[in-house]
Amino acid sequence: MTDPLDIRKAVDLLRRGGLVAFPTETVYGLGADADNDQALKAIFRVKGRPETHPLIIHLHQMEQLQDWAASIPDPAKKLAERFWPGPLTLILRKASRVSRVATGGQETVGLRVPDHPVALSLLREFAGGVAAPSANRFGKVSPTTAEHVRQDLGSDVDFVLDGGPCSIGVESTIVDVSSGDPVILRPGGLTRERLEEALGRPVPVKGAGPVRVSGQLESHYAPRAEVLIVRPGEEEERATELRSKGRKVVVLREKDVEARELYASLRRADESGVDVIIVPLPDTVGLGLAVADRLQKAAARR
Ligand code: TXA
Ligand code: MG
Repeated sequence: MTDPLDIRKAVDLLRRGGLVAFPTETVYGLGADADNDQALKAIFRVKGRPETHPLIIHLHQMEQLQDWAASIPDPAKKLAERFWPGPLTLILRKASRVSRVATGGQETVGLRVPDHPVALSLLREFAGGVAAPSANRFGKVSPTTAEHVRQDLGSDVDFVLDGGPCSIGVESTIVDVSSGDPVILRPGGLTRERLEEALGRPVPVKGAGPVRVSGQLESHYAPRAEVLIVRPGEEEERATELRSKGRKVVVLREKDVEARELYASLRRADESGVDVIIVPLPDTVGLGLAVADRLQKAAARR
């Protein structure tokens, strides 16, 4: 259990414009007061993130939606009721109070209620919205433990709340419900199957073509080593080929790339000093859709 005094300290820091890293069920977030533009700017600075990349605002209960969204279409209400707290971010038209620093200048805002006792205590006690991207430098592997956050951000973060390893291990599913039919902008911890079941209709994934050619995507979620995705069964052949060229290679197994293990596995591979990480592409069912998405971005040309 996290000490209530740590929550108090974190809330005080947020109120004074500080940056607090906190656990969620997906990944650790780097939090700041969503109503404080200076604090929001510090997030972008510390992450090295372009100002046009909007931040997700975290709330402790669905009832706060009306303070942050200008309108709440039926599908949004339905999804929030069904899946919050949980690994789902809803994109809605922003209420006037929402800072354009948080939204990267856009008229929409990403909102989510995370399902983690430490995050919920923090958010409840803070009472406002906490803007939080994943607590890593821009483009790098997301953190799923407090130790990962300390390794990545060091003294650039004022305080790290430790809630143990994240139970899901990949980021929230982002669903645009701001106008018309819901669309998945980023596959994540809430599966497409569960979304479709809740809404009773297909929910498309934006930009998902049949085959995504390596190098077409922007690099993200990337370890230092090169990531090579292969068809399951072809791992050893590729490893032998690369080793014969003098490259240091590690082969990840299916269990290493389950959502909960994925980012820790990529970090361990980097720590072992390899040049190439060979990964079998997972089936894109359930959480496999999010894992495949992250791997494809990690494998994109730098
Ligand atoms: O699980 C998560 O979502 C974690 C935890 C900490 O909650 N947060 C997270 O934040 O992954 P971040 O900043 O690393 O990724 C947020 C993504 C970005 O790709 C951003 O472009 C998108 O959400 N996003 C945020 N607001 C948006 C908006 N108004 N319209 C479209 N995309 C938005
Ligand atoms: Mg991120």
